[in-house]
Amino acid sequence: MEDMKDIQWFPGHMAKTRRQIAKSLSLVDAVAELLDARLPVSSRNPELKQLTGRKPRLIILNKADMADPNVTGQWVQYYKQQGFAVITVDSKNGKGVKQFAPALRELLKPQLEKYAAKGMKGRPIRVMILGIPNVGKSSLINRLAGGKRAKAEDRAGVTRTQQWIKTTDGVELLDTPGVLWPKLDDQDAAVRLAMTGAVRDDILDKEALAARLLTYLHTGYPQALSDRYKIAADVEEEGFVLLEHMARNRGMLLPGGVPNTERAAIALLDEFRAAKLGRISLEKP
Ligand code: G4P
Repeated sequence: MEDMKDIQWFPGHMAKTRRQIAKSLSLVDAVAELLDARLPVSSRNPELKQLTGRKPRLIILNKADMADPNVTGQWVQYYKQQGFAVITVDSKNGKGVKQFAPALRELLKPQLEKYAAKGMKGRPIRVMILGIPNVGKSSLINRLAGGKRAKAEDRAGVTRTQQWIKTTDGVELLDTPGVLWPKLDDQDAAVRLAMTGAVRDDILDKEALAARLLTYLHTGYPQALSDRYKIAADVEEEGFVLLEHMARNRGMLLPGGVPNTERAAIALLDEFRAAKLGRISLEKP
């Protein structure tokens, strides 16, 4: 999905996406909404509920391998209490992906019973995956497809139609996921998305972004900062001062011993995105 990464969401594009999703929705029994387990609120598309109407919805907290497991557990409880079906997965390594079909069967139990009563017992469950760019839609589809991913027809004169990918347990996936626009009008959400690299980080300068991340980590995950950057858990500093601290502790200095905060910011963001600071959640219920 490289080409999806730099999509600029403009009104015309959004209208087209809405139409395409509405069309695909008529073909499926349920939608699987893919969220980033580290930031389940900010990685949610603001219009999804309106777009999907009353279609049964499974929430998938993806990238669970990078999120704080305690906080992810709290999110699962939170969504369950709101009546959602929810599973946590790591689509990169395939962990948790086995829960997909059983969770859908549970979610669609009333419909499946109706079908069975009408003698349509072997009817497959059809699902589409929806989510913002970079949340892991292709990774999940590839995992669920188990290598036997549907190929597009490339013979001349054959129109490319949407195809179904057979997964386990009678579940079929629409091969093209719905790519939704992220919540960029909310500044705090946009900043958290930028921290994870889900959106381009030029919405804020790197040093400002890194300073905000350090302030958050210093409060929420002080051990991670002391382990990796030797920033003591009890220093009463925040933001840019912490970034200077980090640069000095890492020996990132400019002539004259001035801390190179630009280099430190890039290092912090890279290392955070590569989960080198451990499993960290940016939002708690
Ligand atoms: P998209 O279709 O929603 O746009 O997302 P895609 O699957 O392309 O995934 C975006 C990036 O997130 C990829 O990394 C992918 O490997 C990673 N990713 C997806 N799911 C998970 C997960 O559950 N855990 C972890 N740790 N990473 C995940 P990339 O850096 O763009 O590519 P690559 O380095 O993996 O090749």
